[in-house]
Amino acid sequence: MQFINASFPAKRSRRLRRTSAIRDLVTENQVTTDDLIWPIFIREGVGISEPIISLPGVFRYSIDLAVEEAQKASNLGIKCIAIFPCTPKHLKTPSCEEAWNENNLVNTATRAIKKNIPKLIIMLDVALDPYNSLGHDGLVNDGKILNDETLEALKMQSIVQAQSGADILGPSDMMDGRVSAIRNSLEQNNFKETLILCYSAKYASAFYGPFRDAIGATGALIGDKKSYQINSANSDEALNEVAIDLQEGADMVMVKPGMPYLDICKRIKDTFMVPTFAYQVSGEYAMIKVASERGFIDLDSSVLESILSFKRAGCDGVLTYFAPRICELLR
Ligand code: PBG
Repeated sequence: MQFINASFPAKRSRRLRRTSAIRDLVTENQVTTDDLIWPIFIREGVGISEPIISLPGVFRYSIDLAVEEAQKASNLGIKCIAIFPCTPKHLKTPSCEEAWNENNLVNTATRAIKKNIPKLIIMLDVALDPYNSLGHDGLVNDGKILNDETLEALKMQSIVQAQSGADILGPSDMMDGRVSAIRNSLEQNNFKETLILCYSAKYASAFYGPFRDAIGATGALIGDKKSYQINSANSDEALNEVAIDLQEGADMVMVKPGMPYLDICKRIKDTFMVPTFAYQVSGEYAMIKVASERGFIDLDSSVLESILSFKRAGCDGVLTYFAPRICELLR
C-alpha cells in the first residue's frame, strides 16, 4: 500500500466533501437490507406481544404474532431472522431436554414461519442457556461446565432444529469441539445443506445483560461465563477460535459483541477471507436506544453510523435488533 503525500494547497481534502453528490460518488461502504439479520424473541401464548423492559422497542412475540412480524420483516427486505425463545420457567431444567424437544418454541416457530414465508432464512442458536435452569450455555455439574457431555446435547438440539427447517445453525455455546460434533451429526443425518454461522469470537461480555432478561435467564446464572467465552483482553485467541471452527466445518463466523470488538472483525476478515458477521448485541442496542430516548443522540443517524462501522471493519453482515428500522431508513 502506498500513501501519496501531497500537501496543501495541492491537496485539499474538503474538495471531496463539498456536496452530497460528490460525497456519494466517493463513498466506500454502504449499508443495504441484504446485510441484516434480525433477532426476534418468542414466548408461549397466542396474540401476545410483550415489551422487554431492558430493550425498549423490542418485544417477545407469541408464535402467531412472530409469523406476522416475520412477514413484515420480509416485506421490508430482511432476508434472515434469528429466533430466540423465552422458555417457560417450568420447562427449564439442569439437563436442558427442552432444547431438543421438536415442539419447543423455536422449532414450532421455525415450522410456522417457513410454512408462511418459505424464502425467509431462519437461523437458530445452538446453546443450552434458554433451556437451562442454571443459566449456563453448557451442562453443569458441581459448578463446572461439562464440555463433552454438552456436545452430545448440542448434537441432539441441532438435528431437531435442522429437521424443523432452520437454514442456519449458530453455535453460541463456546464448547470445544462443538462445530465438528454438530457438522458430523448433520452429515450423518443427511442435512448436507445446513449452514453453520459459528459464534467463533464470542467474548465474555457485560453487554449481554438485556438479552438474558429477554430470554428469562436473569437471576438463574450463578457465576459467569468466563470459563468458556473469550477474555476481552485477547485478540489472537479469537483468531485461533475462528481457525478451529473453520477447520471443523463452519461456513461463516461471527464476532460478538460488535462495536467493542471491531478490531477483531477486521483482523478476522483480513486473515481468513470468509463470510464474517458481527452481532450488535442487546447492550449495544440499549445504549443507543436509551440515549436517544433521553434526547442525547439522534437515533436514526447513530444506528446507521453504527452499522457502517461494521461494514468498514469488513463485516459482510450484522445481527441487529435495529434491522426493521434500518430497512425503513434505507427506503
Ligand atoms: C447465549 C447467547 C447470548 C446472546 C446470544 N446467544 C448471551 C450469552 O452468551 O449470555 C446474546 C445476544 C445479545 O446480547 O443480544 N448462548
